Amino acid sequence: MSHTNKSTEPLFQTFDHEKITLSNRTVMAPMTRGFSPEGIPGEDVAAYYRRRAENGVGLIVTEGTGINHPASVSGASIPVFHGEQALNGWANVVKEVHEVGGKIVPQLWHVGMTRKEGDLPNEEALPVGPSGLRLSGEKVTEPLTEEEVVALVEAYAQAAADAKRIGFDGIELHGAHGYLIDQFFWEKTNQRTDRYGGDIVGRTQFAVEIIEACRREVGPDFPIIFRFSQWKMNDFEAKVAKTPEELDRFLQPLVNAGVDIFHCSTRRFWEPEFEGSDLNLAGWTKKLTGKPVISVGSVGLDGEFTNFSGANTASLDGLIDKLDREEFDLVAIGRSLLLDPAWVRKVQAGRINDLLPFNKEALQKLY
Ligand SMILES: Cc1cc2nc3c(=O)[nH]c(=O)nc-3n(C[C@H](O)[C@H](O)[C@H](O)COP(=O)(O)O)c2cc1C
Repeated sequence: MSHTNKSTEPLFQTFDHEKITLSNRTVMAPMTRGFSPEGIPGEDVAAYYRRRAENGVGLIVTEGTGINHPASVSGASIPVFHGEQALNGWANVVKEVHEVGGKIVPQLWHVGMTRKEGDLPNEEALPVGPSGLRLSGEKVTEPLTEEEVVALVEAYAQAAADAKRIGFDGIELHGAHGYLIDQFFWEKTNQRTDRYGGDIVGRTQFAVEIIEACRREVGPDFPIIFRFSQWKMNDFEAKVAKTPEELDRFLQPLVNAGVDIFHCSTRRFWEPEFEGSDLNLAGWTKKLTGKPVISVGSVGLDGEFTNFSGANTASLDGLIDKLDREEFDLVAIGRSLLLDPAWVRKVQAGRINDLLPFNKEALQKLY
């Protein structure tokens, strides 16, 4: 591996926000695992998150978990965030993480039009989206009616209320990667002419209403993190905002609605977002909104997410430089934490040579 020569100390500064304090700048990125039979996270899932908290991860963002809607997830073992059993399972996850001093937020998710017909857990549920279009542009269902959109907004709000009630430290809304909220953002999948469509501001309206409804439920002091991306699962070159000006128009409504922290999902954190500046998506978002931001993408690895065959460990120097310059505030780590629950502890102790590379075994079980 290439050497990390810089001190990793900037990663281990506390993060002091009026709504949440974290012991360091590391975040476990949300990662779908599919180990929750019937949507219920069990003891093994709780122990998996506890191991990361025990080993010093500053903030855990859970895997995406489905809001209360029949088509919110695609798979019988994807955890959901409604119903007594699933919520009891999540309450146990929170207890385990808090017992060892960790902080944790659930990632609230609806897959929208990426759901395939016949997918479990509700085989009969059709995919839903702003215009009934898949990410490819193929039309498969009718656009959501306004009443249906409002009901979805309320399902997110209920999940936020439940997250607070069962002891989570905040919530993260999954507005990235081409799933439901992002299908409203992206002009290719949102061709609506009502208030949920139109220009880039109109296309934020669904997210705005979700954020406002969540805020209504959780009150002013509970952190709302919003994750978004330019890239989509089927199109890494896609862009919601093509210029800094467009990014600004996109972000302002989300800020006004009540987002506390933005989680800016990129596949390689070191890539500049727009020509003429070194800033990545997180850097631009911080500059434009003044809000704290989480950056992510191939931290500590030499191969990007979506290449599941494997990646070697890589130097942390570039990351530390950007963090030190305060381009972003927090750093999410995905694949590196799948196989190696002790990744953060090892980095803190300077045991860089002991970090484990990512390989596809990491996906097979809950290490
Ligand atoms: C197995 C796996 C599952 C993922 N599931 C989610 C998810 O549920 N929600 C989400 O926002 N991102 C998801 N991601 C993306 C990660 O959060 C992260 O952005 C990505 O892996 C890049 O970080 P990395 O290069 O450190 O792995 C997933 C990634 C992996 C590897």
